[in-house]
Amino acid sequence: MEEFVSQGDGHVAVLEHYGLANGISVYDLGCGCGRTAQALQRAGWTGSYIGADVVPELLEELERQCPGYETRMELSQKIAAPDGSLDLIYGWSVFTHLFPPETFLYLRDGLRALQPGGTFLFSILEMADRAHDRVWDNVIDHVERGSRVEQLDQFLHRDWIRRFASEAGFEEVRFTDGADGSQHPPFWQSLAVLKKPAA
Ligand SMILES: C[S@@+](CC[C@H](N)C(=O)[O-])C[C@H]1O[C@@H](n2cnc3c(N)ncnc32)[C@H](O)[C@@H]1O
Repeated sequence: MEEFVSQGDGHVAVLEHYGLANGISVYDLGCGCGRTAQALQRAGWTGSYIGADVVPELLEELERQCPGYETRMELSQKIAAPDGSLDLIYGWSVFTHLFPPETFLYLRDGLRALQPGGTFLFSILEMADRAHDRVWDNVIDHVERGSRVEQLDQFLHRDWIRRFASEAGFEEVRFTDGADGSQHPPFWQSLAVLKKPAA
């Protein structure tokens, strides 16, 4: 529980670094039971929140913990929000469990749902970062032993993300390394920061 809380607070610190402010609209893709939502509430943030997930029980828990926060059960690779309605879409440890074409489709629809100048921020696992080796080693171990992998652990390459972002219509792609405290508060995965062109 302590870790759940401290990680949620860390998520909020990262969001603040990337423009979280009172009054903006955020979309928490793969929100789970609300690690970040609960931290936003603790921080006294006021704005419009939508959390989306594919597991109804997790959304119910988020609603219990954060009354007034909206949730969406969305099974397609869509951002469940009207065109141009969001300032910030973020996804923590979500594209790390999806196939790359799914990630592309979420990015493409995210561009539609963002306001001009809006941001799509998400975490990734990458082979280039040795801090991510423990996930890779674990996958290799499972495959080698022939045991069933419980969930997909998907690594992405920065070149792929640049291509997805450009094909989707984002104008700027930046990467920040969670191990480098000078760029943003610690986050053990790398972060990709995509900007929709301003109007
Ligand atoms: C590792 S958890 C991270 C949860 C949350 N982002 C956090 O940091 O606490 C991944 C979450 O993504 C959700 N998820 C998996 N596939 C998804 C999809 N296609 N669309 C939305 N959420 C998805 C899972 O149900 C789970 O809640």
